[in-house]
Amino acid sequence: MSVTEYPNYSPGLQGVIGGLTKISKIVSDTSSLTYRGINVHELAEHGSFEETAFLLIHGHLPNQTELDGFNQRLANERALPTEVIDALRLVPSHMHPMDALKYAYSLLAGYDEDYEGMDHDANVRKAERIVAKSVTVVTAAYRLMNGQEPVAPDPSIGTAANFLYMLHGEKSDEFTVKVMDASLTLYAEHTFNASAFACRVTVATLSDIYSGIVTGIGTLKGPLHGGANEKAMYMLQEIGTPENAEPWLRDALANKKKIMGFGHREYKKRDSRAMYLTKVGKEIGQMKGNTNWGDIADVLEGIMESEKGIYPNVDFPAAYAYYLLGIPIELYTPIFVIARTSGWAAHAIEQIDNNRLIRPTCIYEGDENVPWVPVSER
Ligand SMILES: CC(C)(COP(=O)(O)OP(=O)(O)OC[C@H]1O[C@@H](n2cnc3c(N)ncnc32)[C@H](O)[C@@H]1OP(=O)(O)O)[C@@H](O)C(=O)NCCC(=O)NCCS
Repeated sequence: MSVTEYPNYSPGLQGVIGGLTKISKIVSDTSSLTYRGINVHELAEHGSFEETAFLLIHGHLPNQTELDGFNQRLANERALPTEVIDALRLVPSHMHPMDALKYAYSLLAGYDEDYEGMDHDANVRKAERIVAKSVTVVTAAYRLMNGQEPVAPDPSIGTAANFLYMLHGEKSDEFTVKVMDASLTLYAEHTFNASAFACRVTVATLSDIYSGIVTGIGTLKGPLHGGANEKAMYMLQEIGTPENAEPWLRDALANKKKIMGFGHREYKKRDSRAMYLTKVGKEIGQMKGNTNWGDIADVLEGIMESEKGIYPNVDFPAAYAYYLLGIPIELYTPIFVIARTSGWAAHAIEQIDNNRLIRPTCIYEGDENVPWVPVSER
């Protein structure tokens, strides 16, 4: 049977309206992304990730008093219960850190003092704790899986600075912190992407917000979604040099390979986040005296645009920007989690506040009227 027989069926739900939202908006034609009406470039350039997280969860930009209070609550909530750290010691070192994060957030639900709470205020408090702990979960899990003890969070610094501090065990320079902070803002939210939608589906059954976050992490892990940033870096490493980029790409396209970090369901032109991070990635390359990855990127981008009309998405420049900052590749998707907990939490709250079960229909294509055959006769 062909899908054209079903005019109401859209494979991959492309173009299907999955719900109403006030959280963020993509305009494909102008490559624009806004969070609650504010251009994401403005937020990345002038604001902090914490301001963005507050904006997404609470619906407006914080004034100074609100921001101070939010930062204080994040600082108070960043540390993990010792039991969760001990549980993370059990995670096999060959697992991907994304799987450790699902495990950690499942457990953290039970340590949240609002565990039973399902009302709006309880969900907002849980959302703040989920965001606060994300950076600690990622770095503690990664260090333990690599035979190192976790580093306790520093309450005097923010999310981006704490990520670098708890990862390396020492504070990073201002430029690195700023790049990390801007990338968290850019990764924080993106309308009805697969993981946000999956999160909404979960909480729409009136399951709890932590379950929604665990669903989000599992959905983000795949290389067609958040996992693309790691795959993009492995691809750049395989290509190796700018000279090898064109033959490598032509061979990959001839073999119908998907080029990781390129293409997007919603942006048919450029991904606004990629435009911002490409500039930053190139700047880091210049500063570090290593333009290799940016030069390979130029070749790939040029051919993909002219031959396929496909542009890089946020995961492509993020990959080589993070690499140049010395961040282990298997943490690129977990960094996405640190940021996206704020978007998922906002979606979960919005869904629960105006809920209806999400349950699409389907077209049955299987056999009909099949007779029962006893096991002895099969
Ligand atoms: C993001 C993505 C899943 C969107 O998928 P989609 O909207 O379902 O689009 P499709 O996969 O159906 O692609 C449409 C066409 O563009 C091509 N295409 C899309 N992305 C491509 C890519 N990265 N490399 C090569 N071709 C690509 C497809 O092969 C297809 O061509 P065809 O019609 O000739 O078969 C897809 O672009 C992709 O797989 N990208 C790589 C993974 C990635 O970077 N994901 C992160 C997204 S933020």
